Amino acid sequence: MIHLHRRQLLTWGAALAAMPYAKAQSDTVKIGLILPMTGQQASTGRQIEAAVKLWQAQHGTKAGGKTVEVILKDDAAVPDTTRRLAQELVVNDKVAVLAGFGITPCAMATAPIATQSKTPMVVMAAATSAITQASPFIVRTSFTLPQATVGLADWAAKNGIKKAVSLVADYGPGFDAEKYFDSQFRLDGGQMLDKLRTPLRSPDFAPVLQKVRDLHPDALFVFLPSGQGAQFMKQFGERGLDKAGIRLIATGDVTDDDQLNDMGDVALGVITSHHYSAAHPSAANKQFVAAFEKANKFRPNFMAVGGYDGMRVIYTALNATKGKGGQALLDAMKGQLFESPRGPVLIDAQTRDIVQDIYIRKVERVNGQLWNVEFDTLKAVKDPGKTK
Ligand code: PHB
Repeated sequence: MIHLHRRQLLTWGAALAAMPYAKAQSDTVKIGLILPMTGQQASTGRQIEAAVKLWQAQHGTKAGGKTVEVILKDDAAVPDTTRRLAQELVVNDKVAVLAGFGITPCAMATAPIATQSKTPMVVMAAATSAITQASPFIVRTSFTLPQATVGLADWAAKNGIKKAVSLVADYGPGFDAEKYFDSQFRLDGGQMLDKLRTPLRSPDFAPVLQKVRDLHPDALFVFLPSGQGAQFMKQFGERGLDKAGIRLIATGDVTDDDQLNDMGDVALGVITSHHYSAAHPSAANKQFVAAFEKANKFRPNFMAVGGYDGMRVIYTALNATKGKGGQALLDAMKGQLFESPRGPVLIDAQTRDIVQDIYIRKVERVNGQLWNVEFDTLKAVKDPGKTK
């Protein structure tokens, strides 16, 4: 039997009393999830939050032997707010991972914080090519605009479209879409009649659509960020561009599954290219869509899949490092290969960007609902925007 002195007992007592707190600290690993839950991009926040919750409901809240705590913050898609929240999450909450990022400027504003604090940063939504080059700690589970655009330009040139006009949101991903559509379409023998842009905030499509009507191209190519598609489609129909014989082709952001079903007949027949459709006919996707709809009463879009896969990448990496963060966690994110609801994906170890299939789709009515029905697949597309 061990005899303890009173002093020893007191010290041990103090240590024991402190233990639950210390234990809780070391047994928990935190993810700082920054999303636009309010404002113009709120549908992105709603989709990704729902997907993150679904992931944890299906896979539990343990990874690498630790409890995974998600701390959700609303940045309203304002870059200065994103940066401030990221700083607080790293310094005060000591998060192991920063995640989310609804639009490109918010991801760009946070990149230096990831670099300085050596915190892996998982971009689940934003899609300008250059984002992954802004910090060696960035990993992306969404897509890139060059990746989604090049195949559509090819499709257009091969399908009787000779003259086109482009219309993009006037910021990073729009510039990527405009540039990569233009160069591929012209390489394929097409002619660009004009390249038009609308502001990211509160765009009015009437003046540009009038311009497109006057130019009368074979097709109008469009990129607008998730959330703007329904309003655009409505005005496209109201101005009679579809009746005037101008075909609408777009990245899948425009026929976003979050809004598609409410767009009406004007959306029928629109050809888009993208990495995810809720109608993707794999078993994995059917399970994902069924579980997501059951939990949320709305259809998942490509943002939800970026969030769901982002959680998978984080959980897999935490399991590999036994909950360790920093460079080890980042390294464990690189090179992951898995079947996503969208199809097979790879986190390229060199670029930290996602390699994935891109689908050419057509909006069709199936069983009374509008869907992006995939009819062609471009296999394992790397981001064409990467120079190495
Ligand atoms: C972006 O800002 O990078 C962005 C946002 C929404 C999209 C695509 C890209 O649908």
